[in-house]
Amino acid sequence: TEPPASLAVPQAGQDGLILLKRIGTVDPESLDDYRSHGGYTALRRAFAIGPAEVIREVTESGLVGRGGAAFPTGRKWGATAAQPDHPHYLVCNADESEPGTFKDRVIMEGDPYALIEAMTVAGYAVGAHLGYLYLRGEYPLALRRLEHAIAQARARGLLGDDVLGQGYAFDIEIRRGAGAYICGEETALFNSIEGYRGEPRAKPPFPVEKGLFGKPTAENNVETLVNVLPILTMGAGAYAAIGTEKSTGPKLFCVSGSVERPGVYELPFGATLGELLALAGMPGNLRAILLGGAAGGFVRPDELDIPLTFEGTRDAGATLGSGVVLALDDTVPLPRVLLRIAEFFRDESCGQCVPCRVGTVRQEEALHRIAGRTGAAAADDIALLREVGRAMRDASICGLGQTAWNAVESAIDRLGAYE
Ligand code: NAI
Ligand code: SF4
Repeated sequence: TEPPASLAVPQAGQDGLILLKRIGTVDPESLDDYRSHGGYTALRRAFAIGPAEVIREVTESGLVGRGGAAFPTGRKWGATAAQPDHPHYLVCNADESEPGTFKDRVIMEGDPYALIEAMTVAGYAVGAHLGYLYLRGEYPLALRRLEHAIAQARARGLLGDDVLGQGYAFDIEIRRGAGAYICGEETALFNSIEGYRGEPRAKPPFPVEKGLFGKPTAENNVETLVNVLPILTMGAGAYAAIGTEKSTGPKLFCVSGSVERPGVYELPFGATLGELLALAGMPGNLRAILLGGAAGGFVRPDELDIPLTFEGTRDAGATLGSGVVLALDDTVPLPRVLLRIAEFFRDESCGQCVPCRVGTVRQEEALHRIAGRTGAAAADDIALLREVGRAMRDASICGLGQTAWNAVESAIDRLGAYE
């Protein structure tokens, strides 16, 4: 009963797409069709140039992580490959749970072999023979398509003991999440795979050194991994020429809310927020845009010239995160949206550390009170929110607690939400 992936991709079939080029065009259940659309060219090139050259190309391409944190992928792969401890693991983080994020879903449902090929390239580069694909539990169609793709790839010698007859052994196992946002945090994800509670571990040590089962692990987001295919087929230089100097390549954006054509859009980094919203059908009475999801923050309708790059959003005091662009028109009750975000963080806190466990509850309580207050009473609660927000940001163990106040803070300071 799930809609086809192409329904969520308004650009499907258009010329010039890189990451979305096969979505809606290729049969996601046919390995032959994937191959006839250029599939497995990148893996062949990887075998031809060897793991060290693959890492060099990925480094030179400027690719940074698309899960939200923008860490350089080549550095991550190089550090994992260099570890003397073995085995090495590759983990694909497909636990896409940031509110408003649905780009990885579109890739997995619409072009699953691309992810399987990209994981094989990554495994080869970092010296892993087993890759785990940790899939968000609420993606049943992606699960079916990926299971089918993995089985077909195994049957055709593209996974297994001797991939493409090149003497390299690699296989992929899927693990399903069970609905916890925190299990998308990489170390909580490792705990979940290992059978423990999904609670983040302290970092360092970073996963490149001690990750899954305490072994060197390269953990990458779905979109990050599929970018490696065009890097290898078009070459690092051509790839790096797309986008801006500091944010290279194409980017997927998840546009939702009060727009005419919600969905996943591909644009080169550097396009402006206004250009993206124009593509998606800008609401006439735009009130605010949430960038980066619940962990991100709001910007105003007069800030549409913000360039959609990691550096551009940072310079504007915003965040690109995982590519969420949620437009709200002036009919949407902002205090209700903020309360919903606060409820979400309170619900999803794993409870391991006090600033986040208690802070997310206090934040939600204060927002409830503010809804019924004005004047000095509301000002007291806003002061309390700031104090709690600072404590969460400074003293929480992981990104969940550190970002739980971002959206509320930006709504107060940038939008004047309670004025
Ligand atoms: P982080 O900045 O701690 O780490 C990013 C990556 O770089 C990790 O893989 C980490 O292991 C690696 N790393 C950092 N320093 C390193 C070093 N010195 N050596 C080797 N590796 C190093 O960020 P984190 O907590 O992993 O991710 C936060 C982001 O996740 C936020 O931007 C948020 O927007 C995003 N997010 C995305 C979600 C989604 O559904 N896509 C859900 C929730 C959050
Ligand atoms: Fe758990 Fe929140 Fe602490 Fe992260 S910040 S470890 S989610 S309690």
